Amino acid sequence: MAKVLVVYGHPAPGKSLANRTILETLKEKCPDIEILKLSEEGFAPHVEEDQKKLVNADVIVFQFPIFWYSYPALTKLWVEETFAHGFAYGSTGTALKGKKLIISCTTGSPTEAYVPGGPNGHYLKDFFYNFQQLAALCSMEYLEPVYSHGCAYIPGVMPESVKDRVIAACKAHGEKLAGVLKSL
Ligand SMILES: Cc1cc2nc3c(=O)[nH]c(=O)nc-3n(C[C@H](O)[C@H](O)[C@H](O)COP(=O)(O)O)c2cc1C
Repeated sequence: MAKVLVVYGHPAPGKSLANRTILETLKEKCPDIEILKLSEEGFAPHVEEDQKKLVNADVIVFQFPIFWYSYPALTKLWVEETFAHGFAYGSTGTALKGKKLIISCTTGSPTEAYVPGGPNGHYLKDFFYNFQQLAALCSMEYLEPVYSHGCAYIPGVMPESVKDRVIAACKAHGEKLAGVLKSL
């Protein structure tokens, strides 16, 4: 299997159900993947160390919950710092050339909210043009994103049946992603 680096951008992993389930499933199916937990670095990314991890990987997965139609601020800052000029892009920035990028994420809103004319106005994929262009600028290959809708669970507010549904959906998400990674 290709060398995989999962950049995990949940700012509060202890409170996660959806992304935690995806990561646990992924780790079970693909034990050799490396997981970089951005919450452990906070807003002071370990730039040199993490750039080495990026260089060492063939496939980079951004795993995160959708916050305001994009990745959480923690991931955004990390990208700003590590995908630097002269490293990731620019005439001498070729460190990520040829690597594959996969966006793997969860939303709170259900599938029917992500349609033209719906509450979120667009298909989720249409919010990903920035990721696609980020990959293009860094000469990376942008692969099909993997995402699951309707993954919000608030303990004590939502019924247990929602929790069970989110866990089942996110296990399936983790298995699907593992299948993709194994095929690369
Ligand atoms: C600050 C914030 C912003 C959010 N923005 C969105 C959004 O734009 N679209 C959406 O569908 N869900 C949004 N959500 C819901 C989360 O995506 C959802 O709770 C998450 O995917 C569940 O994953 P987790 O259990 O790993 O936390 C937001 C949640 C928070 C806390």
